[in-house]
Amino acid sequence: MLATLRQKRVILGISGGIAAYKSADLVRRLKDAGADVHVVMTAAAQQFITPLTLQALSGNPVHTELLNPEAEAGMGHIQLARWADVVLVAPASADVIARLAQGVANDLLTTLWLATKAKRAVAPAMNQQMWAAQITQDNIATLIKQGVEVFYPASGSQACGDVGMGRMLEAVELAQCCADLFATQALTGKRVVITAGPTQENLDPVRYMTNHSSGKMGFSIAQACIEAGAQVTLISGPVHLPTPDRVQRVNVVSALQMLEASQQAVNDGCDIFIASAAVADYRPIRIAEQKIKKQGDNIHIELVKNPDIVATIAQMTPKPFVLGFAAETERVEEYARHKLQTKNLNMIACNDVSRTDIGFQSDDNAMTVFWTNGCQKLDKAPKQQIARQLVALCAQQFLNEYNDEATS
Ligand code: C5P
Repeated sequence: MLATLRQKRVILGISGGIAAYKSADLVRRLKDAGADVHVVMTAAAQQFITPLTLQALSGNPVHTELLNPEAEAGMGHIQLARWADVVLVAPASADVIARLAQGVANDLLTTLWLATKAKRAVAPAMNQQMWAAQITQDNIATLIKQGVEVFYPASGSQACGDVGMGRMLEAVELAQCCADLFATQALTGKRVVITAGPTQENLDPVRYMTNHSSGKMGFSIAQACIEAGAQVTLISGPVHLPTPDRVQRVNVVSALQMLEASQQAVNDGCDIFIASAAVADYRPIRIAEQKIKKQGDNIHIELVKNPDIVATIAQMTPKPFVLGFAAETERVEEYARHKLQTKNLNMIACNDVSRTDIGFQSDDNAMTVFWTNGCQKLDKAPKQQIARQLVALCAQQFLNEYNDEATS
């Protein structure tokens, strides 16, 4: 599952080694998974593969020099270091591993390695004797002590004719290792039920009332929960979104169906209930059996209040940890805290719907999250990133408030 790479910023450092040919394939796989990739090459790497190949595959200029005024005027080494979510050196030669371990900063790759706060990983590739050398193993141990992830080489026949440990992992394996760096285990084994999208309330066989909810936020939350190790049931109103990998999806149309599906999912076992659906507050009191005919100038359709799904779930025993949403245009904290209390929620995520650059149909969102004795602002970011931050907060607060005994 490579989904954790979506919108991730990857610096792929390539050092000198025949395995550099696999890096081209790796760039393609990282890009396919939705990552933005910048390639940094050492001088030796350029003897094995051309920057042009990697530029074409990554869609970004390839960075090769530290002291190049033109490159520094574009995306300089410090900017690059700050930009990255992860710096992966693949292949990492014995020489580059030694330099990284010792903090030598004598070219672009080793300098930005020192300057970055991003996750760092190396995929060693070298002759089996060089890999087995004590000094190489000491350098690897030093890197591990510094928090660097090592994607260990495999055994097999080598380009030099030797057979043994030292072959760089294949591109498909490296892409997975890289994706795994972003998977948290915050919700391992927890069961999460999520409502998402709009509901659709039928008036007659051809007409219905609905709203503009795209479902993107709820689907992003489902994805983030999967990345955090949860088992996820996603109860969705009518939306045009693919089901994230490993998510169990239940399609519903109306609020009443969403309530029933939610109750059933919670009864089947639920640690955390997340209500991101934009549920219609009212539905027509009755659905006409035949198409309603055109009548006079006015028509009256009587509506009846829908049940509040999240509030109903929050009254269940045992009660799951419940995260609700609110859309406010003013007095955000006051209204959010009121809703937290009246609906018996554990946490509420509040969108400022007076802003036009975020929310309903947008790919971005921003929110403030409140719980009984705390709050946290999540600044504007793509929904996938906001979802990850929200799920991290939710997992933290769930652990604070619930112990395993209470929920199993
Ligand atoms: O009361 P309001 O609609 O502002 O509350 C929004 C929150 O309540 C959201 O979490 C939404 O999913 C949930 N909700 C619900 N059932 C309803 C109305 C809202 O679960 N009928």
